[in-house]
Amino acid sequence: MRRESSIHGQWSSKLVFVLAATGSAVGLGNIWRFPYIAGENGGGAFVLIYLACILLIGLPIMMAEIALGRRGRQSPINTMATLAREEGLHRAWGLVGWLGVTAGFIILSYYSVIAGWSLSYVFRAASGAFAGLDGEGVKNLFEGLVSDPERLLAWHTLFMLMNILVVARGVRSGLEKAVKFLMPALLGMLLILVGYAMTQGHFMQGFAFMFRPDFSQVTGDTILLAMGQAFFTLSLGMGAIMIYGSYLSSRASIFKTSATVVSADTAVALLAGLAIFPIVFASGLEPGAGPGLIFITLPMAFGEMTGGLLFGTLFFLLLVTAAWTSSISLMEPAVAWLVENRGLDRPLAAMIVGGIAWFLGIGTILSFSLWSNPIGFNLTLGGESLFIGGTLFDMADYLTSNIMLPLGGLLIALFVGWRMNRRSVEEELGLRSRVFFKAWYHVLRFAAPIGILLIFLKAVNLI
Ligand code: PHE
Repeated sequence: MRRESSIHGQWSSKLVFVLAATGSAVGLGNIWRFPYIAGENGGGAFVLIYLACILLIGLPIMMAEIALGRRGRQSPINTMATLAREEGLHRAWGLVGWLGVTAGFIILSYYSVIAGWSLSYVFRAASGAFAGLDGEGVKNLFEGLVSDPERLLAWHTLFMLMNILVVARGVRSGLEKAVKFLMPALLGMLLILVGYAMTQGHFMQGFAFMFRPDFSQVTGDTILLAMGQAFFTLSLGMGAIMIYGSYLSSRASIFKTSATVVSADTAVALLAGLAIFPIVFASGLEPGAGPGLIFITLPMAFGEMTGGLLFGTLFFLLLVTAAWTSSISLMEPAVAWLVENRGLDRPLAAMIVGGIAWFLGIGTILSFSLWSNPIGFNLTLGGESLFIGGTLFDMADYLTSNIMLPLGGLLIALFVGWRMNRRSVEEELGLRSRVFFKAWYHVLRFAAPIGILLIFLKAVNLI
């Protein structure tokens, strides 16, 4: 059955959907997470595996998620339940929606804290705080911020309020207005910064680091991290893209819009890497610095280079903008569910969702000061002993990106590929070419789920 619209509204055009979905995809994952994870995992080989995951797992699952959302036209929880009922399947499929909403809360909780770092850095950059700092100086500046829970709480609160403000206003006057204004700004800032990095940094060294693979460093965990990054960066496996699909017109092509979003997201991650690594090398810094990478290395570079004040400010503004258009999509599934099932007003629903995530975020804030000692246990598997655990931030990040999102994606692939009636799927996708449909369907049925499963098994040393 085809529903024409959702009770929450509809995007005013296909282009707006592409902007919104790209806004969701392009975020801290591209500019903050991708460079530091690639940097910690040796660069080239990680980047190649990540690109393979984007193409073979990410793109087909994005198409499936949009198709589900558009067919169900409700929050992911209700969409999964409704479609399962229509297709005569078990009610338990509704749990996929719950898994997603849970992951959304956890991601939003730490996402907002890191976005808060970025907000604070906009003001630092603009006030010239980086001028003339050496490696020690920028490190102290960063550590001064993250070891101060009260300051972090203030920025985290501000960022969460910015999200509540947008989501409370609804699909047309909140989400749509925000992305129509913010996405062009984002593109403009990005282009200026890439031009700057190309002329100012050690471009070739950065380029070689990102694209010269050294497979000797690759372990099961590297592959899992690359797949987790692919899910995280494309906003897949938790219902964000599904709910954005539920506001998409029935006439729009799911393949074309997905391909655009995936290409834009990949381009931004690679450009961010190409903008950041040359600067890292030009300043003689380490690519494996961890979550602080861009907050430590870039300010040092901006503090030294001509135009650093302006471009530094622009960079952190870019980061905040990208984070903002992503975190609104992290809130939307839970907010839509509260409106549908609890009859709440949207503003109240947005405050509740934002409030819960805000509270959970305190765990991340303290992970960099009071609770910075890792907690966990040692697990011996296949003769190797490995430490499971970390700070609350480490755990929230690892659990969501590397386990919950791929698991959600696996279940979505199985639902659409194996459980739904093929005719319903064909109808919703509306691909004109049969060969093309078959190719996608096969990848979704076989390559994507088998790939995810093998990577899971490899990560725990079972294969
Ligand atoms: N894709 C976003 C980023 O790269 C993060 C995100 C994950 C957003 C999951 C929504 C859902 O920053």
